[in-house]
Amino acid sequence: MDRYYVIGNPVAHSRSPAIHAAFAAQTGQALAYERCLAPLGDFAGCVRALVAQGARGANVTLPFKLEAVQLAHTLSERARAAGAVNTLSFIDGQILGDNTDGAGLVADMVRNAGVALAGARVLLVGAGGAARGALLPLLQQGPRSVVLVNRTRASADTLARQFAAAAPGVLTACDFLDLAAPFDIVINATSASLADALPPLPPAVFGPATLALDMMYGAQPTVFMRFAASCGARVRDGLGMLVEQAAESFFVWRAVRPDSAAVLAQMREAP
Ligand code: ATR
Repeated sequence: MDRYYVIGNPVAHSRSPAIHAAFAAQTGQALAYERCLAPLGDFAGCVRALVAQGARGANVTLPFKLEAVQLAHTLSERARAAGAVNTLSFIDGQILGDNTDGAGLVADMVRNAGVALAGARVLLVGAGGAARGALLPLLQQGPRSVVLVNRTRASADTLARQFAAAAPGVLTACDFLDLAAPFDIVINATSASLADALPPLPPAVFGPATLALDMMYGAQPTVFMRFAASCGARVRDGLGMLVEQAAESFFVWRAVRPDSAAVLAQMREAP
């Protein structure tokens, strides 16, 4: 039986084993998918041990997504752009690094939420790893504009410069104080929700037609989702992105696309 893992520290909370088990059952793929707790100081040793035992691939989660870039022999274009790897494939002794987070975000918005990204005005809040991972797949959808806003303005400027060539004229950075009109899509790619904090967004960025998506998810709506809803926006958490990035990893490994919407519905019922 082909074996896959999710490697992290901590990793006990990961929902990836349940998601991949559901994909495997649905598609009839014979595979096992388990958690692997890597020591903080020995991610590379952990991966090498899995490879030696014949594992076929692994998802990588916090805090190892940057280390996985170094470990991979080859990187996909989207992993290089993201500067992070969340999907490893072990093929003939080679370690291939990919990143399916941004594709998962796009798939959730387009397919599950039914929002067109082509021609959309997008506000991306945050300029850390999560924002960087989303940028190339977002820009490839052909949005009219993508505005980057971040507590530390310089990081937003740096990201805007780095990705300028991917979609000339589309990406700009600004300050929270500059925001005055509604966007079609507002994505919270900050880690603020983890601390129950809210980026200083003016209510004006949300309109009745706005989709406000938080990459975080939990049993309750995040403070960002509550604020956006109080401003009249339609809100969405990050569970769909989680399931969709898993579906994309499954496709990378197995060349089979699971019915991710069905598995997302299943995950919502059994938190
Ligand atoms: P991740 O990999 O989750 O993106 P990260 O690289 O540490 O994590 O980046 C965290 C992002 O959340 C950053 O954009 C950070 O803003 P700064 O660049 O100013 O640090 C943002 N962030 C974290 N807490 C925040 C808060 N309370 N309000 C606004 N932005 C916050």
